[in-house]
Amino acid sequence: MTLVGVAVGAALALVAVLIPWLPDSAAREADLIDNVYWFVTIVCVVIFAVVAGVSVYAVWKFRVPPGDTDDGSPIHGHTGLEIAWTLIPLALVTAIAVYSGVELARAEEVPADHRVIEVSGQQFAWSFTYPEAKVTSGQLALPINQPVELKLTAKDVIHSFWVPEWRMKKDAVPGIETDVIVTPTKLGTFTVICTELCGLGHAAMRAQALVLTQAGFERWLIKEKEAAAAAGSAQGKTLFTQQCGTCHALADAGTTAQVGPDLDKVLAGKNADFIRKSIVDPNAEIAPGFQPNVMPATFGESLSQQQLDSLVEYLLDTAGKG
Ligand code: CUA
Repeated sequence: MTLVGVAVGAALALVAVLIPWLPDSAAREADLIDNVYWFVTIVCVVIFAVVAGVSVYAVWKFRVPPGDTDDGSPIHGHTGLEIAWTLIPLALVTAIAVYSGVELARAEEVPADHRVIEVSGQQFAWSFTYPEAKVTSGQLALPINQPVELKLTAKDVIHSFWVPEWRMKKDAVPGIETDVIVTPTKLGTFTVICTELCGLGHAAMRAQALVLTQAGFERWLIKEKEAAAAAGSAQGKTLFTQQCGTCHALADAGTTAQVGPDLDKVLAGKNADFIRKSIVDPNAEIAPGFQPNVMPATFGESLSQQQLDSLVEYLLDTAGKG
């Protein structure tokens, strides 16, 4: 029976190992998480297969023959077996706990020399602030092979920060600061995903994470700084892509989200007052087919007067003209 269990276990373990369940790791921390993940997976698959294999074999092999109405033989326990099935799981569970603790501590260790980026979640967009450069962007950009501490907060409800290729995942909670350490090891564009159900636009709450070379990162910071320094309609466009584009479609900004109304339709021909009111008091007038209280009513506070003016100017210039 044990041989059958071991054979099935080996076969199932191959299924677990050979299928690519997770995207390729792209951070130092991801490798540590993967080690734990595979260790636990293999332990679980082998135990499941041994138990299930022995059970199925026993049902087949020791089936009562037709016409046999005798009682089964009386069995009053087996001390050796009971000790074995207590001690083996105890050893395995202890090993999983210790190994996870050690790898997690390594993954969350804050390196002496690291960059800090402030990450803020709100319904339904992420924003990233680079304190040294005094830049805020809707994109997360990191230089490759350098440890970064992401300090997470949320403005309204609980969100959760996750980039699958980096594995590290943590809640962004209003009122407190949590942190994620990540050292990206692959260049490219990844996706920041919100993994905490946070409202109607949850599924659309994504942002780009760019891993760049050191020189590319510095160029990116300068470009973002210039975009933020621009006034009027140009600044409005930057704000729109950072804060509005995950929910609203607008041809000029190239966004197609459908959580909220298509602005090319609902703002076409409207004046500045209507646009401003729609941003600061979104429940005053609800477009047909949409629900009240989906769009946060907090933009009047979170945007400065000057940012609001730029956004209104941009929407006035572009909505319905795409
Ligand atoms: Cu934010 Cu889901």
